[in-house]
Amino acid sequence: MDLNHLHLDVDRTIITAQPGQNVLEACLSAQLDLPYFCWHPALGAVGACRQCAVKLFNGPEDHTGTIVMACMTPVTPGMRLSITDPATAQFRDRVIEFVLTNHPHDCPVCEVGGECHLQDMTALVKHTERSYRFTKRTHLNQDLGPFIRHEMNRCIGCYRCVRFYRDYAGGDDFGVFGANRNIYFGRATPGTLESEFAGNLVEVCPTGVFVDKPFATRFRRKWDMRATPSICPHCAVGCNITVQEREGEFRRVVNLYNAALNGYFLCDRGRFGVDFIRSPARRRTSLQRDAQGTETPLDIAAATAALAEPLRTNNVIGIGSPRASLEANAALRLLVGPAHFYAGVSDHDADIIATAITILRDAAVPTATPADAAQADAVLILGEDPSDIAPILALSLRQSAQRATSEALAIRQIPAWNDSAARRSAAGSPTPLIIATPMSTRLDDCATACLRLAPTALLTLAATIKAQLEHPSTADPTAIAAILCCASAPVIVVGGDSALMRAAANIVTTLRRHGIAARLSILLPETNSLGLGLFCAPPLSAALAAIQTGHAPHVIVLENDLHRRSETGPLEHAFSRIASLSVLDCIETPTTATADLAIAVGSFADADGTLVNQEGRAQRSFKAIFGADDPAPSWHILRNAGIAAGRLDATAWATHRDLIEAMAANLPDLAACRTLWPHAHEGDMQRPPTLPHRYSGRTAVNAASHVREPQPFANPDSPLGPTMEGPMPRTGLMPHVWSPGWNSVQANLKFPSAAEPGVMLFPAITRIPTELPLPHPPSPTPGILALPIRRVFGSDELSNLAPAVASRVGSPILRLNPADAATRGLSAGTMVDCTIGTTTVRRTIALDPTMAAGVAGLTIGVQGEANPPLPGSLTITASHPGEPS
Ligand code: SF4
Ligand code: SF4
Ligand code: FES
Repeated sequence: MDLNHLHLDVDRTIITAQPGQNVLEACLSAQLDLPYFCWHPALGAVGACRQCAVKLFNGPEDHTGTIVMACMTPVTPGMRLSITDPATAQFRDRVIEFVLTNHPHDCPVCEVGGECHLQDMTALVKHTERSYRFTKRTHLNQDLGPFIRHEMNRCIGCYRCVRFYRDYAGGDDFGVFGANRNIYFGRATPGTLESEFAGNLVEVCPTGVFVDKPFATRFRRKWDMRATPSICPHCAVGCNITVQEREGEFRRVVNLYNAALNGYFLCDRGRFGVDFIRSPARRRTSLQRDAQGTETPLDIAAATAALAEPLRTNNVIGIGSPRASLEANAALRLLVGPAHFYAGVSDHDADIIATAITILRDAAVPTATPADAAQADAVLILGEDPSDIAPILALSLRQSAQRATSEALAIRQIPAWNDSAARRSAAGSPTPLIIATPMSTRLDDCATACLRLAPTALLTLAATIKAQLEHPSTADPTAIAAILCCASAPVIVVGGDSALMRAAANIVTTLRRHGIAARLSILLPETNSLGLGLFCAPPLSAALAAIQTGHAPHVIVLENDLHRRSETGPLEHAFSRIASLSVLDCIETPTTATADLAIAVGSFADADGTLVNQEGRAQRSFKAIFGADDPAPSWHILRNAGIAAGRLDATAWATHRDLIEAMAANLPDLAACRTLWPHAHEGDMQRPPTLPHRYSGRTAVNAASHVREPQPFANPDSPLGPTMEGPMPRTGLMPHVWSPGWNSVQANLKFPSAAEPGVMLFPAITRIPTELPLPHPPSPTPGILALPIRRVFGSDELSNLAPAVASRVGSPILRLNPADAATRGLSAGTMVDCTIGTTTVRRTIALDPTMAAGVAGLTIGVQGEANPPLPGSLTITASHPGEPS
């Protein structure tokens, strides 16, 4: 007997279900069309809408049956059901009629018309007649901030929004108000939705109540947009996204389901930050700047020829970037040679990245995906707040903390889909979430314990936990070691300090030695930090030292603003010694502003590229924007310049695949990138279509200039096709979320793929990980130790250029313990100058009563500002009132 599958009879058809599923999920997974509204695979079932009614028969002799809600009915072996039963169909028809009583029939002007779940379900039910002939109830809309527009009259009362916002994402500034037939979903007063996950309301709501506000200003129907699978470029989680375009213009980002990473959700930095590619700071033309500062525009041929000049010398170095793809970094490294290639990150970031590689690759410590974090039965966060660095990971951690463990649910016989019961049940026996950080985090509200410790005390704590794990009898039963020991799949999250990362890895190793399937999640600063680290290149300081010696008069910088990586003094001193500075970038930065040659290159959405996330997962994104004058990708320009300079053979890297081969041949750690996706035209592979089935209007759009149907642009390097027809893979290559009759994102729910896109560069090894030596404890920092504060809105270089995200960036702060502030005569709101090393920045004081004594948090990543060298010793001086901040 197969215990992993059950068989159900649905209208005389036998379907297979998995134990623990509800009937609705089982029917949808079997491709059956059963309408529903309030159920969501991530939010579970609450039985609010009554749309998913089916008839359940009590054995073969029962010919009457009972109408039940499929989402609230667990599957059982031998179950007999009917979806088509006439009484049940009539029930669902009446529910649709009730739901539509007050719904405005504004589909032609509604932004979700054509991709609306309510439209799909109405068509499924075949409901055509309304008997209600009276005035419809109407609501006032609220201003919900820069991301979301509110159209409350479209609400059908399914409660998904409030369940997502409050229960799932932990927000408290959105709720449900009113009673009976006058229910209102919104804020107590109009104002910006504070949760960094608010944008998901656009996809969670089955109608058009929450509209993607930036998209509405350049709106196109879903069926008129070309869609391409891609990877979010705004942090090291690497969430999967779909980028949609029309007429060569970026339109919007929507979620691309990935079971291991982002599931059904994105953070607002990922959803709205991609607008940076439309910002005024976007560099679209190349230029040469002479000694007097006179700028001469260059076309791409002239820019490539100019870039070939320094490559003709033997004294050129290349500086790579953690926001550039593997391909771009590899091309630069191959051109200038490994000895002349530098990583373009600070010493601190280089140390953290190298430590992450040591832990994941050399010590073989198993990494945790966000999905693992959501399922963890104990979590320990050490050092940094994932909420700002890796928002989707934080959202996953919240799920483990807010729900009872799967064992507890099994004992209480609560199925996982019964969301409300699973969450209520967590109140009595919460999943342990212990947060040990120097300052408060945005997960504190769901933590079982919070410890505020300075970095040295965190190292001591990690050592104590490990010692107690090795000698369990010495552990206090309430101590962290005992809690971890009682778990079966704990997750440790660590970041910010290489010694602490090693200590956390050793805790995981010790737990594994005890037979506990512990995993480690390492927080890294940028989208391709780990990928860049695998090039084993020295940090920026080494490049500046090489320049100082006079051995590197020509410098090529790849997609990197060095002013964010180094103190201004050493950088400017080094720059004063170079003969030529060539910068390839897709945005305008202080580094491009001082370049002798600034070359416009494609953004992540204009080029195919591979990124390695913080787990070591290599993922590829594809060219998604197709305009006539798109800037070429960096690697392409570097290739052509290399050929012109005689450094490359004329046939080198003719295709993207050739470059991947060259990269893999030089860097064995990246060899697995060869297998990432099939390349274009490989074998007899049919190319998945990037145009929707009903893609329309090309002729009309261009009628003013030409009435002939223009040829859609093709991407010769991509396995995706510029067509409307072709196979639709159910993996990360899926450009559109669609299935017959299902045009909304809910089509995703019919075919969730368990496949994990991407390739793990450090595959899981079954052996016990290697224990890592710890460095000597650092010597105490004189005065106050300043630590970086990263912010979900404000610390990422690219998303800051998106207008909607920029409007959410708050004032940069210096966070202090009130006692530390008082001894210095400082109070909240005071403007101060903060000096670390030779860098001084101005900040407003914010007091954090829970903050560890002797440390301060300093906002970093401020646009247009050099990042101070953190962590570092801080000197605070009061700035003069009235001076600009
Ligand atoms: S606003 Fe949307 S998600 Fe919320 S209850 Fe109404 S229809 Fe459902
Ligand atoms: S968590 Fe990171 S990768 Fe995911 S959507 Fe947000 S910024 Fe992008
Ligand atoms: S989906 Fe089942 S009651 Fe709403």
